[in-house]
Amino acid sequence: MNPKSIIVIFGATGDLAKRKLFPSLYRLYEKGHLNEQFAVVGVARRPLSADEFRNYVRDSVETAFHQKLADGRFTSHFYYHPFDVTEAESYQRLKSLLEQLDGTYKTEGNRIFYLAMAPEFFGTVTSRLQSEGLTETHGFKRLVIEKPFGHDLASAEKLNDEIRRVFSEREIYRIDHYLGKEMVQNIEVIRFSNAIFEPLWNNRFIANIQITSSETLGVEDRGRYYDHSGALRDMVQNHMLQMVALLAMEPPIKLTTDDIRHEKVKVLRALRPIAHDEVDRYFVRGQYGRGVIHGKNVPAYREEPNVDPDSNTETFVAGKLLIDNFRWAGVPFYIRTGKRMAEKSTKIVVQFKDVPMNLYYRTNETIAPNLLVIHIQPDEGITLHLNGKKTGESTTITAPFQLDYCNNCIDGINTPEAYEKLLYDCMRGDATNFTHWDEVAASWQFVDPISEVWANTKASDFPNYAAGSMGPAAADELLKKDGFHWWPIEHPRS
Ligand code: BG6
Repeated sequence: MNPKSIIVIFGATGDLAKRKLFPSLYRLYEKGHLNEQFAVVGVARRPLSADEFRNYVRDSVETAFHQKLADGRFTSHFYYHPFDVTEAESYQRLKSLLEQLDGTYKTEGNRIFYLAMAPEFFGTVTSRLQSEGLTETHGFKRLVIEKPFGHDLASAEKLNDEIRRVFSEREIYRIDHYLGKEMVQNIEVIRFSNAIFEPLWNNRFIANIQITSSETLGVEDRGRYYDHSGALRDMVQNHMLQMVALLAMEPPIKLTTDDIRHEKVKVLRALRPIAHDEVDRYFVRGQYGRGVIHGKNVPAYREEPNVDPDSNTETFVAGKLLIDNFRWAGVPFYIRTGKRMAEKSTKIVVQFKDVPMNLYYRTNETIAPNLLVIHIQPDEGITLHLNGKKTGESTTITAPFQLDYCNNCIDGINTPEAYEKLLYDCMRGDATNFTHWDEVAASWQFVDPISEVWANTKASDFPNYAAGSMGPAAADELLKKDGFHWWPIEHPRS
């Protein structure tokens, strides 16, 4: 059934709306997933007419897809409301507009409030929506909230209290766009729909799991936000820990939102807490210096716009996580993420334990371990690294080979963008791929001691990795101490 609702986007002239939300809505529209019973109200401070806003939306879609829109059918669903967050009248006018559109589009009173604006306004907007009567409706009301969800556990709790006064947990959709990525969603399906993995998916057979999410971009025009956030809050507290949870969770009883979230929360709660004096042992921070990306010289982080020239903010994090439960005791989960690294890529490597003895020791001093690689982006797929007989040689010589599946190489398949899936899920009322408060709280609880130590101790070696590299040497040492190394794995077809 196609959803019916009005989507109110706060921050409609911002970067997220332009680059992700409008193009995603367009794709849903083109695929016929939205019937004609929907309207989008863009809300922002800038004074724009409805026509100017529709042109803005059209531009964003045309830029995203490099093609002209044939007609104004799609953009005719868009309306604009100039707005001041603190002014009661702004809310009153918005309320009348919503009532009017509800009649025009027969959206049955269903309202989605999407906060894609500066986080300091999240609390104010939510409480004003209630006090000015916008949340009183005969249909559903939902709140979609972008990250950052707080700056630490205390601020996240405060924000949560504010929004929970107005929306119930079921009505809150906290976005983590990694949960909308095709191959992130595939993690649980690969694990729970194949008989061959689950029996091995534990500390008896897995030596370690590595998750790398590297970017070539720097902070671009987000210096002001990023310099107060850093990679730990920007990537680890949310995206990286969500991937850890999906990799480590127990099979849910059923595929319901609550059952899946319940299992993820258990993993996050089982993360071994890092004490202040252990941070250096388990975590490495880095900041990029000048370097070369795609053949071009790029500045150091401290030279980026709106960044403190003496900044202590990390643009790279590597860490070793331990999960204290029966399944994972003793298996390190290594995570690594950073800006201005050698490649844009997210992948997961599951390294299995070695065979019990090496029968091939005369010719092969070591045998390569089996690896299961889940390629999240830009290539999507999985590769299983195995060993076999070296072709044409005697049976005493082994050679590695790979079984490869490429998800986005199949002709005619255009995998949906993360935001497209998440928006659609929210419209249909499916919160499975959004983060529950308990997950957010447990993640902050884990991350807080690390950020506290880093905020209070100046990194004496920053910048400690060159733009275009894979991060500081200490990130390699972290694994070396345990007898492992990061697997540098290209997708076989890239
Ligand atoms: C965002 C971070 O959540 O994720 C950005 O705020 C980061 O700093 C981005 O660049 C990475 O997302 P993706 O989908 O490009 O891997």
